[in-house]
Amino acid sequence: MSAMLEIRNLSKGFTLHAADRRVRGCEDVSLVVEQGEFVGITGRSGSGKSTILKCLYRTNLPESGSILYDSEAFGMVDLATLDERRVIYLRNYEIGYVSQFLDVVPRTTARQIVAASAAEAFADERDVESETTRMLEHFDFPRPLWDLYPNTFSGGEKLRLNIARAMVRRPRLLLLDEPTASLDNASKLKVRDLIEQLKAGGTTMLGIFHDLEFMEGVCDREYNMQAGGFVCA
Ligand SMILES: Nc1ncnc2c1ncn2[C@@H]1O[C@H](COP(=O)(O)OP(=O)(O)OP(=O)(O)O)[C@@H](O)[C@H]1O
Ligand SMILES: [Mg+2]
Repeated sequence: MSAMLEIRNLSKGFTLHAADRRVRGCEDVSLVVEQGEFVGITGRSGSGKSTILKCLYRTNLPESGSILYDSEAFGMVDLATLDERRVIYLRNYEIGYVSQFLDVVPRTTARQIVAASAAEAFADERDVESETTRMLEHFDFPRPLWDLYPNTFSGGEKLRLNIARAMVRRPRLLLLDEPTASLDNASKLKVRDLIEQLKAGGTTMLGIFHDLEFMEGVCDREYNMQAGGFVCA
């Protein structure tokens, strides 16, 4: 195995100018994720878990440290300083991100949202269609909802759609921010099932899970924020 991701001494704080205060995001985080591995991040609320993933996806610009990612397209890059153009390329073709909430795209149906994502990965229109259908079916997405706008969907439905959108591309590296937090047990099992499939297909994953026990058997190692390192699961 070789490292796909190596985070070294990553720190990110936030300056709140209006209140003239500094808030600690994450501080001095170092961790390695091997190719094909599933690493879970745990820690109490506010300890900086989401901040790490957002630095990787570059929603946050890291303040110090490096995030070495062994990309397919550009070889080894530092996501902490990589130029925007290549960050966008990697977001489209290599790195997937599931946030806890669906940022609803106006006037786009559930089916279109997943299909637009699939279209980035599959050149053939028939594959786009079949993969979209497979994904919506996998999550038991009610047929009557497929061609509706998701703004009226329930929280769980939005979340499942969000996951379907990210997973349909089969990204090389997938970042998951509590993807099962507000799901019922049956839906959680579906997510787990897909995660297992992606892992079998070689996807490397870094995920935040409130209930990591649920991922037992899928999760290879656990990084705990309080411990500041890997702990035995
Ligand atoms: N954009 C931001 N502006 C200001 N402060 C922020 C911002 N993002 C995060 N923070 C602060 O950074 C700290 C870490 O937040 P983060 O979201 O990473 O925590 P977390 O470990 O994911 O928590 P939770 O388990 O509740 O999701 C918190 O104190 C939060 O208030
Ligand atoms: Mg969080």
